Amino acid sequence: MDYLYLEEIDSTNKYAKERISDIKDKTVVYTFKQTAGRGRLQRKWSYLGEDNIYASIVLKPSRDYKEVYSNLTQLLCVVLAEVFEEYNICPKIKWPNDIRVNRKKISGILAEAVSGVNGLEGLILGFGVNLNTKIEILSKIDQPATSLNIETGKYIDKEVFLKNVIDKFCLYYNNFIEEGFLLIRKDYLRRAEFLNKEVTVKVFNKTYSGIAEDVTPDGALKLRDKNNEEHILLIGDIL
Ligand code: BTN
Repeated sequence: MDYLYLEEIDSTNKYAKERISDIKDKTVVYTFKQTAGRGRLQRKWSYLGEDNIYASIVLKPSRDYKEVYSNLTQLLCVVLAEVFEEYNICPKIKWPNDIRVNRKKISGILAEAVSGVNGLEGLILGFGVNLNTKIEILSKIDQPATSLNIETGKYIDKEVFLKNVIDKFCLYYNNFIEEGFLLIRKDYLRRAEFLNKEVTVKVFNKTYSGIAEDVTPDGALKLRDKNNEEHILLIGDIL
């Protein structure tokens, strides 16, 4: 992987998107000062200080879009969980790709695809990690959140953390493109906090409620509603 450090930027995803043709395959665009971060479903990702990570992995696997590309966020999610565990904490995955510790969000992932006349130009896997944010700052944002510093009581070296995530991601990447979600399904399910629970999932303007029974070999959520009807959800947000 190549690293492209930016002193300050509105959004690493936006930066990568706008310059996709100039950025090489397997480049990590990162900053410690992101002023207008984007989140999933048109939400924003707040800037919580420069002791945290704001990064986007740029990938150019092929010109034609393959289903497995949409599962790359789940791969990154498992990789992040593995790195968090090295700090002796217990991260849980909320489908599809949120990581929480004690029900508080510690990391978020936003994937974007850029297509042009010649097909897929590239994929951008953006991720933000709360590494050293203090409780006083986290309490100002609109959802329960935590940081690795709060969970461990230790200052976390952001460069070390980032490199660890990227190295691990690279170890899996080629096999993942070949084998898909099945490669990591067990590692994903082992950390899933939503399984066998009653959940409500928002998919665009629709909501589905029921028991989250499984995650399919493609990474989709299998939900059974109260009429015993099965729903296979490829995207969405557990509320
Ligand atoms: C979410 O949980 O809604 C996803 C948040 C993703 C935030 C990261 S921070 C780096 C990258 N650049 C962005 O603008 N967003 C992602």
